Amino acid sequence: MNPLKNHEFLEKRSIVLLLAIIVTVLIGGIVEIVPLFRQETVIEPVEGVRPYSPLELAGYNIYLREGCYNCHSQHIRPLRDEVTRYGHYSLAAESMYDHPFQWGSKRTGPDLARVGKKYSDEWHVAHMINPRSVVPESIMPSYSFLMNRGVKMHDLKHHLSALKAVGVPYSEEMIAYAEKDAYVQANGDARVDASGLQERYGEDIAARDFDGQPNIVSEMDALIAYLQVLGTMVDFDAAKDVDPGAVKNAALGAKTEEAE
Ligand code: HEC
Repeated sequence: MNPLKNHEFLEKRSIVLLLAIIVTVLIGGIVEIVPLFRQETVIEPVEGVRPYSPLELAGYNIYLREGCYNCHSQHIRPLRDEVTRYGHYSLAAESMYDHPFQWGSKRTGPDLARVGKKYSDEWHVAHMINPRSVVPESIMPSYSFLMNRGVKMHDLKHHLSALKAVGVPYSEEMIAYAEKDAYVQANGDARVDASGLQERYGEDIAARDFDGQPNIVSEMDALIAYLQVLGTMVDFDAAKDVDPGAVKNAALGAKTEEAE
C-alpha cells in the first residue's frame, strides 16, 4: 500500500488538514510548555542563593513600593557589553526567591542586579538622600524621607509566611524570629548577639547599621541592606562547575570574578 495515499486524504480536505495541523502543533506546544510550569525543571539550583533576610525583604518591598523598577532592571544579559559593564550575567537561580522578579528591560538608570558591595553604605545614603550630591548629572529622584520612616517590624513575619506559601523555603524558626532578625541585622552594636541571624541566613550576612542612625531601624536601613546583597550570593568560581556558560564567558574575556 502506498503510504502517501493517506496523506492524499488529508490534502484534499482543507478543514481536516487544518484540524490535523492544530492537533499536531498543540501536542508540540504542550510537550514544550508544560514542564516549564515546574520551577525545579527550569532553574538549576546554585550554591549560595538563599531567601532574603527579613530586613532585606523589607528593603525589597520598599524597592517595589517606590517603583525603582521603573528606571532600573535587574537582569544582566549574556552579551559582552553588559557583562563587561555589570559583571557576570544573571542566573535564573539568583532571582528564584523574588516574587515578583525584578528583571525588567527599562534602564533609565543602570542595571542593579550586581550593585551589592559596589559602593559603601555611606555612598548609598548620600545617593538616596540626594543623587546629585554624588553623581552631579543624575536625574534620579531623592528618597530622603526613607531616613525618617521606621520599618514596619510587626508584619515582617507575615511577609515571610506569604512567601513560604509560594515556595520560598523559610523555616518556621525564620518566621518566628523575623522581627528580631531584622532588628539584629540593622543594629551596628557589637554587643548585640548576631549568631541566631547567621545561623539562619549564613555567616556572610551583612549585619550593621546601614544608614548611620543607630537609634532607628529606618526604611533606609532596609533598602540599603537589600541593595548591598544584590548579586553577591553566588560565588562565581564555584558556579563555573555547574554553569558551563560561565566558562564560555571567561573565554570571551569578560570579568566573572567580581561584580563591577
Ligand atoms: C526616574 C528614574 C529613576 C528612579 C525612579 C530611580 N532611579 Fe536609581 N538611578 C537612576 C539614574 C538615572 C541613575 C544613574 C545616575 C546616578 O547614579 O544617580 C541611578 C542610579 C542608581 C544607583 C547607582 C547604580 C550604579 O551602579 O551606579 C542605585 C543604587 C539606584 N539608582 C537605586 C535606586 C533605588 C533603590 C530606587 C528606588 C528607591 C531608584 N534608584 C529609583 C534613575 C532612577
